[in-house]
Amino acid sequence: MSNTNTMDLKKRGLEMKWFFDAKAAESYDDVHAAFAPSKVMLTDALPDDVRNVLDLGTGTGLELFRFFERFPDARVTALDISPNMLAQLSKRPFADRVDIIIGDFFETDFGLPEGIGYDAVISTSALHHFLEEDKVRLFRKVYECLKPGGIFVNSDYYAADQASQDASLEWYLENPEMRPHGDTPLTIENEIRALKAAGFTDITSEPAGNARYMLVKAKK
Ligand SMILES: C[S@@+](CC[C@H](N)C(=O)[O-])C[C@H]1O[C@@H](n2cnc3c(N)ncnc32)[C@H](O)[C@@H]1O
Repeated sequence: MSNTNTMDLKKRGLEMKWFFDAKAAESYDDVHAAFAPSKVMLTDALPDDVRNVLDLGTGTGLELFRFFERFPDARVTALDISPNMLAQLSKRPFADRVDIIIGDFFETDFGLPEGIGYDAVISTSALHHFLEEDKVRLFRKVYECLKPGGIFVNSDYYAADQASQDASLEWYLENPEMRPHGDTPLTIENEIRALKAAGFTDITSEPAGNARYMLVKAKK
């Protein structure tokens, strides 16, 4: 099993950019309407006093409809590698409350609002493409940009077990001609191990309304 240090993150980011730039043009929103439950749960898991939030992989901003309904006075920093997805986001009715950053998760500075950090970092359907060791690096960045006591909430889909995680990765690595297709989700156990390695505590997970989706909460 060739499953360590084998993913070129720069290429992976460009694959995603290519894929979602094309998807945005061919109505991403219609396809993702079915994932509304996991996007709603993301907002509902946040504490009441959230004002300053980083959203990793915001895309067209589907999760932000419920978010701004609950937190009309909040500001969201939306980080995404796909300019076409973000072009759709900038047409949303809440666009004036969103600061857009075009960039790769691994290469972009997340910032530190007011020198203290974000109240929360959220993400949905965006982080199931990375090896566990790369997720530790990403989660460390998330941890560092949160204020003390801040929360990371991620709703995403996970491999059913280790065999299925390994099989997805093997397929991805052995079929470069099929890229950008080929998701490589971790198991929920491996995700939680990566969050712990990054420093998070009070980690919980629960089913998130769509098949194989989990809502994962972790505290700084
Ligand atoms: C499936 S979409 C999810 C969009 C939105 N969160 C939702 O739930 O509808 C995944 C998003 O993550 C972005 N993305 C994937 N890999 C990325 C990376 N390495 N850096 C920044 N954005 C990335 C894609 O461009 C895409 O917009």
